[in-house]
Amino acid sequence: MKVAVLGAAGGIGQALALLLKNNLPAGSALSLYDIAPVTPGVAADLSHIPTAVEVVGFGGEDPTPALEGADIVLISAGVARKPGMDRADLFNVNAGIVKNLIEKVATTCPNACVGIITNPVNTTVAIAAEVLKKAGVYDKNKLFGITTLDVIRAETFVAQAKGLNVADVNVPVIGGHSGVTILPLLSQVEGVSFSDEEIEKMTHRIQNAGTEVVEAKAGGGSATLSMGQAACRFALSLVKAMEGETDVVECTYVEGGSEHAQFFAQPVLLGKNGVDKVLPYGELSAFEEKAMNEMLDTLKGDIDKGIEFVK
Ligand code: 2OP
Repeated sequence: MKVAVLGAAGGIGQALALLLKNNLPAGSALSLYDIAPVTPGVAADLSHIPTAVEVVGFGGEDPTPALEGADIVLISAGVARKPGMDRADLFNVNAGIVKNLIEKVATTCPNACVGIITNPVNTTVAIAAEVLKKAGVYDKNKLFGITTLDVIRAETFVAQAKGLNVADVNVPVIGGHSGVTILPLLSQVEGVSFSDEEIEKMTHRIQNAGTEVVEAKAGGGSATLSMGQAACRFALSLVKAMEGETDVVECTYVEGGSEHAQFFAQPVLLGKNGVDKVLPYGELSAFEEKAMNEMLDTLKGDIDKGIEFVK
């Protein structure tokens, strides 16, 4: 399995590359690209870690050499938020970056599974889909918005609040990856109950957890380490499924025939070719049903913005 990370010299990219170097199955290849000239050095640095994962790195304008033969492409390239910004404020810079990188994916490794981390994910995934469609190589089963950070945050916060072992806590998170479009299904967490007030507070904390980090970093960027961990979890799940495991499920933002929006995050059974099956997200509480209906205009607006951008 060859995994390419685009944006590999950035905060998320370096954390992700380190985790992949240590956790990809033996015999895998890791290929790093970033516009920053330090990227071959990042690869050299990682290559001294004694695992059976080969690492190469490329800097400069052209990601093509990093993409050759890639089975999975993870894109974290772009700028991060500063205090006072929300993810949509990143659109002007990051939309063009994602568009250019996906054009190279379309010509170099059109059959790869692509995971998008670059914000605003609700929109950049739609951009990627349109670019791939234009190139005639779009397969909706192979394009993912990585929303795993919302899941790991939800699991961490619920475990902390209820005194549970976080390894035993599963929280599906549906919708998108920004503010009110992030909807944790707390009613489905097994073995715990929440008061109405707790649900409201916990939902709000999960929706704003990215902003919590942006403010704590005080102008120094947004979440990188937890995002690297989340993207690594998603990538390793994808690798397992592509190598034949048949029970790998992750919540992820895909075009999966949702009745709500063209792209929607929900539990997905992963398989050899990416999405095997988009799974139902189950029954919602009255609070979740209302929150879902209220997010849809925002989510659809985010998606339309991406489609318009490419057109
Ligand atoms: C976050 O949620 C970076 O979007 C990322 O913190």
